[in-house]
Amino acid sequence: MAANNISILGTGAYVPERVLTNEDLEKLVDTSAQWIVERSGIQERRIAGPEENIATMAITAARQALESAGVAPAQLSYILLGTNSPDYLYPSAAIRVQDALGMSGQMAAFDLQAGCCGFSYALYMAEHLVGPEGKYALVIGSDTNSRFTDWTDRSTCLLFGDGAGAVVLGPARKGRILASFVASSLNMNLYCRTEFNAEVSPFLPPSTHSERHFLRMDGPEIFKFAVNAVKESIRRILELAQIEREELDFLIIHQGNYRILEAGAKFAKVPMEKVFVNIHRYGNTSAASVPLALHEAVEEGRIKEGDKVLLISFGAGATWGATLLEWGK
Ligand code: ACO
Repeated sequence: MAANNISILGTGAYVPERVLTNEDLEKLVDTSAQWIVERSGIQERRIAGPEENIATMAITAARQALESAGVAPAQLSYILLGTNSPDYLYPSAAIRVQDALGMSGQMAAFDLQAGCCGFSYALYMAEHLVGPEGKYALVIGSDTNSRFTDWTDRSTCLLFGDGAGAVVLGPARKGRILASFVASSLNMNLYCRTEFNAEVSPFLPPSTHSERHFLRMDGPEIFKFAVNAVKESIRRILELAQIEREELDFLIIHQGNYRILEAGAKFAKVPMEKVFVNIHRYGNTSAASVPLALHEAVEEGRIKEGDKVLLISFGAGATWGATLLEWGK
């Protein structure tokens, strides 16, 4: 895909205050803080409080993104929100964001589920929705993974955390989107489903531990998929944008595991200084991961105007995808 006239105009993010450290996890499951940091790079993660949910976190991130873009809620034509952890099956969290922004009826707001790729899918959709007409879209990733985590399963509970990130997409000012793609292929090594107790009617509401939705994962298989997805994303985006690896200035890769980030950097032939890392502080925040990292990279001055910044996602589904930006707000 050739460069278009659309760009990210502003970013925002939110993480809950409560911190869950590896040392805290030692008290929950048979693990060690050192094992977790060595195998994943994660030191701590954030956990949503009882009053927080994907919509409240998204609203804070969205307001910040709109302010940073200088775009008013009334200018929006779309709100797209990627999530894997809806607190309501319906209405969508995106419409709750719309309402909190004081809007009603002027735009289309909806959620989409594409594993940890939810934000990237939403960004790709928004790029094509706003494209021809120069409209504005709010694109959000928000997840409360802590509510779908089995806190007795040591192989998954170390990895995930809660948070939200948002961007405003619209007619290009200084930067632009150079290329993008999303893809999917069935992979049952990572899923979340209701685990009913066979003794209990599946038509009764969940009441016990064994009847809740839990995330389940074959870690080593997903690890292999993730590394391949990152490599495939780099290969494909370079081809789409007709540029060489050496032209990439900065990588923002879904924060699934530090070792996956290292594999991506090695394949792209970029030093780790050019790869954004916040997994040690937040773990894997699923759909929030990429926009949260982008926001922090911008705030920390890690990205300069004109830089070629590659956003890469992968997730349950399996899904994967990437967006290449020429940065500038
Ligand atoms: N503490 C101590 N030991 C543990 C723990 C733990 N928390 N969890 C597993 N182990 C043990 C296992 O039981 C196993 O023991 P065994 O050899 O006696 O059977 C041993 O440690 C090795 O386990 P592995 O699962 O092979 O460890 P691995 O090095 O693969 O690391 C991890 C596990 C961190 C989960 C890794 O596989 C991983 O990061 N996978 C990908 C995660 C990911 O990116 N997921 C999300 C992608 S998509 C999305 O974001 C939705």
